[in-house]
This record gives sequence, structure tokens and C-alpha cells, in this order.
Amino acid sequence: MTNIETIEVAAAAGAYPVLVGEGLLNRPGGLKEWLRGGGVLAVTSRTVAEIYLDRLPALLGADECESVILPDGEEAKSIGHWQRILRRMAELELGRDCALLALGGGCVGDVAGFAAACYHRGVDYLQLPTTLLAQVDSSVGGKTAINTDWGKNLLGAFHQPRAVLCDTAALSTLPQREFAAGLAEVVKYGMVADSSFFGWLENNNRRLLARDAACLRHAVKRSVEIKARIVGEDEHDRSGRRAVLNFGHSFAHAIEHSAGYGEWLHGEAVAAGMCMAARLAVGEGGLRETDRKRLEALLSAFGLPLCAQGLGADTLKRAMLTDKKNLKGAIRLVLPDGLGRARLTSDFSHESLDAVLAGQQP
Ligand code: NAD
Ligand code: GLY
Repeated sequence: MTNIETIEVAAAAGAYPVLVGEGLLNRPGGLKEWLRGGGVLAVTSRTVAEIYLDRLPALLGADECESVILPDGEEAKSIGHWQRILRRMAELELGRDCALLALGGGCVGDVAGFAAACYHRGVDYLQLPTTLLAQVDSSVGGKTAINTDWGKNLLGAFHQPRAVLCDTAALSTLPQREFAAGLAEVVKYGMVADSSFFGWLENNNRRLLARDAACLRHAVKRSVEIKARIVGEDEHDRSGRRAVLNFGHSFAHAIEHSAGYGEWLHGEAVAAGMCMAARLAVGEGGLRETDRKRLEALLSAFGLPLCAQGLGADTLKRAMLTDKKNLKGAIRLVLPDGLGRARLTSDFSHESLDAVLAGQQP
């Protein structure tokens, strides 16, 4: 077991730790300190269950672990699967001292977290994220949600986990496309909050892509540190501070929606969305062209898309109008003010936005 880094996340209901290290899923009794002694139910998805579910009894220091196995991907984030988790909790007669274990990617974490937020008006859950995206983003900060037929992530709650264990060794089994999608969110942290981390990513892009263990540990740790700081400043996403974590996401959600969910991975859409937001920011005078080119070069080195090719500007614009960040019908976007700085704003030219959506430089 290599060094374990611990990052504290401040939250109204109490601070919680995010542990980052290799082998965290292999420690006998490694979860015990965060359990209240009630029953435990693991929530996972088919692929992750095949690889990692048998680690849980030892982690709990128990002979076995009850589980609910969901489909892989977005399909898990449905009202039906959320209800399945809750029904299983009721069948097991779990009390308020129980805990859910969310073992998997962001989809499992989001639906399990929302079930934990609702069961008996809120019980504990532990995040055991196994994708890069989940380790650096979705497992931290307490946003839980499911999808509905009127949109993605539109039913949910803020409910912070009791602890998050990011075992970077688990990333070795992640398909390359999923791994690259997670790197988009890592790049996002450099763009919105830390230009030296951005420079580190540029200098280490090959080692990172090859999943070098030390590089991975640093990338996950630094990403979590940045997210923890921002969540601590604006836990419930009210002041605009936390919104910077949605850099590129208004475009990304429009891409995912317009292409049909599942066509683009979330991180791929975020990569293209960040490039579109950066293009707009250059047109608005907030970002230097050289920095926009650095962003594109880094995302390109990670094999990520740089534009929303094949999707019409009108379709994308219509989808952007339903974004949760909009206020009184006005589109609000996160735009970089330079490398390592960003803000939420509705102060930009709509002609420039239309040009960007049409794939042009404003
Ligand atoms: P995902 O949960 O669909 O996982 C990707 C795929 O990889 C799945 O098929 C999964 O079974 C498989 N997988 C997971 N871990 C694996 C491993 N170690 N080895 C092999 N296969 C593995 O995708 P994701 O990118 O982790 O999460 C995307 C979701 O996260 C979206 O629904 C998005 O809305 C949500 N999200 C939430 C937040 C938040 O703050 N709550 C933030 C960002 C994204
Ligand atoms: N992923 C954006 C947030 O957690 O606020």
C-alpha cells in the first residue's frame, strides 16, 4: 500500500474525508471507521460488480455484503432503479444507522447517493468511485441525482457522503475511452482554478495517459483538493462560486442532449464544451488566444474532441436554454478570465455565442 493522501471537505452537516491512494479497496476492515453499526447495502453496476464486488466483505470485515446490481451507465440513473435500491433497503429493514456503499462510476454514485438522501429522510453513504471522472468529480461534493423523461439530473438532492475512498489502482481496468473522458474533468480544474496544475498536466500528459501510478495519484489528489476548496466555499451552488466547476458544461449538456444520451461520454462533451466556451471567451477578450490553443493541444493529446461536429447550432442553442444555471430565461455561462480563473456570467454577445455554436471563431 503506497501513501494515502487525505483531503477534508467542509460541509454544513460535518466535514468528511476523501482518501486517495492505491489499494484502498484491498484493506481488510478499511471501511469500518465510517460505519455506525447498522446494516450495509452495496450499490454497484454489472461490470464493476464482476471486477470489484468480491472485495467488499473483507473491506467491511464481514463474511458477506448485500448488494443491488444496476445496469452500467446512465440507465442506472432512473426512477425505477432508484426505487429498486430503496425497496431493497426496506426489505432488509435497514434503520437510520445503515449505510449504502456506492461502488462504481458517477452513475452509480449519483443514484445511490440520491437513494441515501431519501431513505428515512437521509442515511449515510460511502463513495467508492472506480472511474477517473467519479474520483475527481462526482463522488465529491454531495450532488446526487437521477434522470427523468424531461431531462438529465433534474431530480436530486445535496447529500454529502460520509467518506470517499479513491483507489487509483481501480483505474487500471477502466476502458481507455472512459479514462480519457475523466481527463477532461481534470483539465477543467487547471483551467478554472490552477494554472500551474494546467502546466503540470501539459508536462505529464504522456505519463498520465499511460496511467503512471504516481502521476495518477497526483492528478486525482490535486483535482479533489481544488473541488473540495470550491465546494467548501459554496456547498449548495448558490453564490456562483461552485458554478465554475461547470466550465464547458452548458455546451456539454446541449451536446449530450442533442446527440442523444449515450452517444457522447459526458467527459467527451465537456472537452468539446470547454473548447467552445474558450472560443467565446477569446472573442469577449477574457482569454488569450495562446491559452485557448494550449487548452486545445492538451485535450487533443488526451484524444478528446475539440468541437461538436455534426450537431446543428439551432439544436444546441435550444438545448442550452434549458440549462439549470440560466436565470430568468437568460443563458449563463462559465467563461475563463485567463488560465486558472473563471466566472459565471450572462454578459457576452449572443452573436458570438451563435458563431461558436456554428463552429466558427467569433
Ligand atoms: P459511468 O458511471 O457510466 O461509468 C462508466 C463505465 O465504466 C460504466 O460502464 C461502468 O460500469 C464502467 N466502470 C466503472 N469503473 C470501472 C472500472 N474500474 N473498470 C472497468 N469498468 C468500469 O460514467 P462516469 O463517467 O463515471 O459518470 C458519469 C455520470 O456522472 C453522469 O451521469 C454525470 O451526470 C455524473 N456526474 C455527476 C457529478 C456530481 O457532482 N454528482 C459530477 C460529474 C458527473
Ligand atoms: N460537477 C460540478 C459540481 O459538483 O458542482
